[in-house]
Amino acid sequence: LTSDLLDFSLNINPCGAPAASLEAAARALRDSHLYPPRDAGELRVALAAWHGVTPDSLIFGCGVDELIKLAVHAWTQPGDAAVIHVPTFPRYEIELRCHGARVVEVWSPDPWRLDIARLSEALGAHRPAAAFLCLPNNPTAANLTAVDVTRLARAFPATRFAVDEAMAYPLDEGLVGVASREPNVVVMRTFSKYYGLAGLRVGYGIGGGSTLAAMEAARPPFNVSAVAVAAALAALDDVAFVERCKQVFAEEVGRFRARVDGLPGCRVVSALSNVVLVQLAGVSAESVMDGLATRGLRVRDAREFRGLEESNCIRISLLDAEANARLADGLEELCHSNPESLGAATASQFGSDHRRSAKC
Ligand SMILES: Cc1ncc(COP(=O)(O)O)c(C=O)c1O
Repeated sequence: LTSDLLDFSLNINPCGAPAASLEAAARALRDSHLYPPRDAGELRVALAAWHGVTPDSLIFGCGVDELIKLAVHAWTQPGDAAVIHVPTFPRYEIELRCHGARVVEVWSPDPWRLDIARLSEALGAHRPAAAFLCLPNNPTAANLTAVDVTRLARAFPATRFAVDEAMAYPLDEGLVGVASREPNVVVMRTFSKYYGLAGLRVGYGIGGGSTLAAMEAARPPFNVSAVAVAAALAALDDVAFVERCKQVFAEEVGRFRARVDGLPGCRVVSALSNVVLVQLAGVSAESVMDGLATRGLRVRDAREFRGLEESNCIRISLLDAEANARLADGLEELCHSNPESLGAATASQFGSDHRRSAKC
């Protein structure tokens, strides 16, 4: 790899962090000799008002990653069944397996969609202690409606549902309303993505009843630092920042898609905030990744995602306009240096790749 490596493999916010958050964090550092508030203090009150829920409907975690761990520990016993829908964010499966839970995977015939019928079938057949839904789904951007999730939650009241909305746009209502109505649903959100605070590790869940109480009982009391709480609180006030991020992500995804979709054997199959999946035909993802690496461009092999092993996709977390243009140039050069194989790709070839990656 060259020294001026551009890393598109990490799912981060290319707009950075809000300036007000950095200032608030610096101020909070002065009280580093103190433990943070056990209940996230003012952040709890502010988020409750923001979402229109009561403060006791919230739980805080060291990122959504910790909330996933808490849910697994609180809701499942070793040997219990837990449902996930692949492909999805890998943490659910990792935490469940570490805890000794039995992971039930739901596969859709079309890996770019979440299959509500099969999900429902698996819930009925296995009566799991927990189900993990990533909405919108990382990495495919597939989604379910509030009506779908409400139906599932009511049909399977003994199952606890974690709805991971880490990738949702913060100003969207998402499934917060469902979580505040249904006692077996917790929605999880993060300050890592649109708010640009991934390094400070702040996530929160919204829910109620014994579902939330069990997670709260498993939560270490000082799991979110005062610095992180202060930064998140300041970020909440900066609505203009998340609006700008949304606009920048949409512009960059649009520009990148326009270039990549015009290349032979290359197409964007999903886009979620600033993260895109590019499917390749006529050439392996591996050789494209190698070719990009020699140009100082690192992307992620999407075949690492269970359920996308045969998809021949690379995952790209877009950066700024200049970096993204360099990546598009790199892809273009690789496509044109291999015109025979890449040029031979057709829409139907992409289609069969999709179907081959499905397993029921
Ligand atoms: C779907 C999903 N859930 C959870 C996380 C982890 O978020 P956090 O940084 O809040 O731990 C990510 C991070 O990429 C994610 O994409």
